[in-house]
Amino acid sequence: MNDSITPTRSPVLLQAKNLSKYYPVSQGFLKPAASARALDGVSFTLVAGKTLAVVGESGCGKSTLARQITMIEPSTGGELWMDGANVATADRATLKRVRPLVQMVFQNPYASLNPRKKVGAMLEEPLEINTRLDKPARAVKALAMMEKVGLRPEHYGRYPHMFSGGQRQRIAIARALMLDPKVIVADEPVSALDVSIQAQVLNLLMDLQQASGVAYLFISHNLAVVEHIADEVMVMYLGKAVEHGSKTQLFARPLHPYTRALLSSTPRIDPAQRQEKMILTGELPSPMAPPPGCAFNSRCPFAIDRCRVEEPVLTEHEGRLVACHRVTEIN
Ligand SMILES: Nc1ncnc2c1ncn2[C@@H]1O[C@H](COP(=O)(O)OP(=O)(O)OP(=O)(O)O)[C@@H](O)[C@H]1O
Ligand SMILES: [Mg+2]
Repeated sequence: MNDSITPTRSPVLLQAKNLSKYYPVSQGFLKPAASARALDGVSFTLVAGKTLAVVGESGCGKSTLARQITMIEPSTGGELWMDGANVATADRATLKRVRPLVQMVFQNPYASLNPRKKVGAMLEEPLEINTRLDKPARAVKALAMMEKVGLRPEHYGRYPHMFSGGQRQRIAIARALMLDPKVIVADEPVSALDVSIQAQVLNLLMDLQQASGVAYLFISHNLAVVEHIADEVMVMYLGKAVEHGSKTQLFARPLHPYTRALLSSTPRIDPAQRQEKMILTGELPSPMAPPPGCAFNSRCPFAIDRCRVEEPVLTEHEGRLVACHRVTEIN
């Protein structure tokens, strides 16, 4: 996009259009390779200063999505647009420009930090690789970032093992922010932390977002955490989005049977938000052999014949997107 033609920059930072990732899976000697549809046609946009939460059971494709968005892996299909560039067709110079704009915070701050590097060196490393700043200038930036995330100057020369889990996640967040990214993908960033520390780290993430306008793609299976931090929620099932809308709408009145089941498994404090229990039975089907029709039909109490043959597409209902043939009848 030419900035001189568009005077006001679009607030859309990143767009995924029908993004998919199929992994080849060996079936054994002389047998043809099958493919696992880990991500199967997901679309969304990330907007400056907002958080899109991605929720769904283990194995539904959340981390696969994270690997596509952070450009760690190439996608099988669809398009990923980052800051006006199509990642799949971009030239090397464009990729070099857009890659640092998306950074990642991982689940486990014990495994994601290099045990042999001191905090200061860890924070300065991205600057050393991507900028021409000299050592004193890098140190100034590292110390300023440490202050922003609530670390003290004396922490600069310490190794990761000298920190608690919450402090380690602060270091990981600081490192992710060193290059002024526009998007941070956080894959279960607080689930390895003590419950009492989780809220501190979530509040830190929210403060940093307010100050910098960074967008978050926030992956979590914990709906209480999602309710705290998200603006928008995308519910995934077997590599696809089944419901996608504002957090307020989804939590107040989930429409897809899968969203209803996920929410009813989360304890609610507010009695007005308590709903009739919908227990999720059975297991997530294999992404190598997704059921025909609606992928959720094998576990859905409302499934009819149509759901077993015809795949529902995401359609607008009550201001959000839902993929369910029976959405109006069952709500
Ligand atoms: N490299 C790979 N090769 C084959 N299959 C894979 C590969 N990576 C992921 N998968 C499969 O893709 C599906 C989605 O995996 P993914 O890790 O994205 O799920 P997830 O939603 O992040 O789960 P969790 O909540 O447990 O982290 C799973 O069925 C997984 O087995
Ligand atoms: Mg995962």
